[in-house]
Amino acid sequence: MRIIIEKDYESLSKKASLLVASQILLKPDSVLGLATGSTPLGMYKNLIEMYKRNEVDFSKVTTFNLDEYYGLSPDHPQSYNSYMKNNFFDHINIPPFKCHLPKGNAKNVVTECYTYEDKISKCGGIDFQVLGIGENGHIGFNEPDDSLNVLTNLVDLRSQTIEANSRFFESSCQVPKQAISIGIATIMKAKKILLLASGENKAEAIAQMTSGHVTTKVPASLLQTHQDLILLVDEQAGKLL
Ligand code: GLP
Repeated sequence: MRIIIEKDYESLSKKASLLVASQILLKPDSVLGLATGSTPLGMYKNLIEMYKRNEVDFSKVTTFNLDEYYGLSPDHPQSYNSYMKNNFFDHINIPPFKCHLPKGNAKNVVTECYTYEDKISKCGGIDFQVLGIGENGHIGFNEPDDSLNVLTNLVDLRSQTIEANSRFFESSCQVPKQAISIGIATIMKAKKILLLASGENKAEAIAQMTSGHVTTKVPASLLQTHQDLILLVDEQAGKLL
């Protein structure tokens, strides 16, 4: 694992966008795994600016998002599909058919999970996976538990996660209680992983995921066994390292 500590959120976002752009420069048809939440917003903003300056071309890129709330239709304002369109896809030259998210309102969720996983493997797997981390150490929506899902699955969200994500909704009772999330193996099979964390509230999770021990109680700790992981944090998230 390579650990990079940046001074603040701005420099972390800048470095993250440069790492993604370098990946696309080296492999224009890269398959990117993408994350939502507050953390990657600065990275997306910088990538849009780089695209406007003709410094990066997304026309051959394919993307797969980590997760989607179960029960929300793709056009729901709080869906991750809407988040990705508003914050990234609608501002770059990526063909919409190359942007994939699980369908939160799928009639048959088992089929949806299987189909999503199948699409990822038919594209050859993820070349470059961007991850955030939950305060409880979750990655995607793989929550701390006695065991973790290997492949894409319907998952129950922990109350801590519902509470943390309620800032995007009018109240915590509007936050869906379940989500479709890619599994741990799907993430671990990515050729490169970039995990971003900013702010003091992530310091404990970052310390736990780098402790030298692997436990399903801190899903991100499994990343310690990945062969090409960059942990990019700001000083506050890295303060216990
Ligand atoms: C959600 C997402 C995760 C993300 C996490 C952290 O739970 N499913 O993929 O990493 O939030 O979000 P934030 O960056 O807003 O702290």
